[in-house]
Amino acid sequence: MTAMPANLSGLDLRAEIERLRKERNAVILAHYYQRPELQDIADFVGDSLELSRKAAETDADVIAFCGVKFMAETAKILSPEKIVVLPDMEAGCSLEDSCPPEKFAAFRAAHPDHIALTYINCSTEVKALSDIIVTSSSAETILQQIPADQKIIFGPDRHLGGYLSRKFGREMLLWPGVCIVHEAFSETELLKLKAQHPTAPIAAHPECPPHIVDHADYVGSTSGILNYAKTVEADTLIVATEPHIIHQMQLAIPNKTFIGAPGADGNCNCNICPYMALNTMEKLYIALRDLEPRVEIDEQLRLDAKRSLDRMLDMASGTVGKGDLGSR
Ligand code: 13P
Ligand code: SF4
Repeated sequence: MTAMPANLSGLDLRAEIERLRKERNAVILAHYYQRPELQDIADFVGDSLELSRKAAETDADVIAFCGVKFMAETAKILSPEKIVVLPDMEAGCSLEDSCPPEKFAAFRAAHPDHIALTYINCSTEVKALSDIIVTSSSAETILQQIPADQKIIFGPDRHLGGYLSRKFGREMLLWPGVCIVHEAFSETELLKLKAQHPTAPIAAHPECPPHIVDHADYVGSTSGILNYAKTVEADTLIVATEPHIIHQMQLAIPNKTFIGAPGADGNCNCNICPYMALNTMEKLYIALRDLEPRVEIDEQLRLDAKRSLDRMLDMASGTVGKGDLGSR
């Protein structure tokens, strides 16, 4: 159960977190969808693949993971000797929820001639049932290494799977999961926004449905979108992914304007990930102070899940920024 912040008023949370980070020999990793203050205090901010690599490489004793549960579990799978804390253990993911391990196992059993290529946004149990894990920044490179006649199950994100399938003309059996955040963008509102800013390109995450992705000038992972923002020759960019990434864009390119793509009510705030938003400075402070809530994984399950993650790290090596989903 998640520890609720007691009365922390009067505490200089930034200073306390800095103190505990040193005392614990901790590294703070944060995803681009975290609140700005958590991104600012992190040692490293990145996409899912970059964060996995950092977790595997770090020589810290403690990993404080500002992200969601499947990310913190990935860190523990790759660095079992470290203490891994997640500020709020309730920080889940709609894609993970869409794919219960028993149902995924039955689906696999019904298609024994297919391999399971699985998005990292899933439980440790589903990773253990999979052959190769992918992230949005490694999926394209990895898919291209799989022989053309090999049948594939892709789960749990049907939009990422559908995007890859269309781009490579490769049929795959798609698990019917979606990200509730990317699913909420409105095509009508996006087109209204584009009419107001006709020269602004649109960058979209491949978790968006086709009616959003089809209007995008660039499709890619969070790090890919950030890189596009830095390099595209436009002074305004429309961003169709979780809007907290705009914080990094503003830090990196303060002279450009970034507009979050709208949801159905025309208000981009409805695209804030409710799971990512559960982590706060207060909860990070408590996690470093108490070393709780802690991620623990059964050793056999960890080893089973590590196989598919190791394959991803091997097959994706050298791909960040190069083998991204990128141009359409
Ligand atoms: P990436 O940062 O790997 O693009 O993943 C986005 C995401 O949905 C994280 O939940
Ligand atoms: Fe899951 Fe979507 Fe939130 Fe990412 S943004 S953690 S895919 S619900």
